[in-house]
Amino acid sequence: MHERGGRPVTTSWDPATYLTFGDHRARPFHDLLARIASRCPRRVVDLGCGPGNLTALLAARWPDAAIEALDSSAEMVDAARARGIDAHRADVVDWTPAPDTDVVISNAVLQWVPQHRELLPRWLAALPVGAELAVQVPGNFGAPSHELVRELAAGRVTLRGEAAVPEPDAYAEVLAGCGADVDVWETTYHQRLTGPDPVLHWIGATALRPVRDALPPDEYEAFVAELAPRLRAAYPARLDGTTWFPFRRIFAVARTA
Ligand SMILES: C[S@@+](CC[C@H](N)C(=O)[O-])C[C@H]1O[C@@H](n2cnc3c(N)ncnc32)[C@H](O)[C@@H]1O
Repeated sequence: MHERGGRPVTTSWDPATYLTFGDHRARPFHDLLARIASRCPRRVVDLGCGPGNLTALLAARWPDAAIEALDSSAEMVDAARARGIDAHRADVVDWTPAPDTDVVISNAVLQWVPQHRELLPRWLAALPVGAELAVQVPGNFGAPSHELVRELAAGRVTLRGEAAVPEPDAYAEVLAGCGADVDVWETTYHQRLTGPDPVLHWIGATALRPVRDALPPDEYEAFVAELAPRLRAAYPARLDGTTWFPFRRIFAVARTA
């Protein structure tokens, strides 16, 4: 939820747009998955499963596990179901692990959930001994891509600030404070994007959604027209037409002891 003139605005997701740059967006999921040790989990949960393309990897790795997938967006749930994932619509805030849950993964979701730091201990406390909780969140709220959007939106739309995602040490402390074995790290992917205005296209599927949902179409178009040259200046195209878009991500895996 974001606010326009004090009024809460619900954000919408477009699965097709989100799947653009699919390889770059999938990479952190693979890196997170590689740090999960569980061999024969009974139940594997994908919290905020999106269009389900990555949930399918969970089913492929653990074919004998029950796969539970949920997302708050009706469009994303429909897209996941169209891929054969038995996803359902729910808010992670209301989710509680079933007693046989051995693996929980949440990739690029919790940055949208302001109270997620309180959810992590609640989930860990409800998981059986030896279960693994693995999360990845973007750590780029201070990057020019996000700062430029916030600057332009100021006074019109209230957006998440840098505090939307805590630093890695905060995740480590919260999880270790629950008595879990903890593995926390961060990575900056130096993504080489192609095509015109690639950073604008990238954030169009994510960071710009709240702005698009809050502004009337003509105002949103004007907003994008003003943003585009600023993004081009912050992320200049190289002579070969490609553009570097560094993207920091924070990872945490906790195993209940
Ligand atoms: C950036 S996408 C990530 C999707 C998928 N996990 C992936 O890695 O491709 C973020 C997803 O989180 C979902 N989401 C955001 N807030 C949520 C909430 N409170 N409860 C459940 N899902 C949520 C959105 O609907 C969207 O599908």
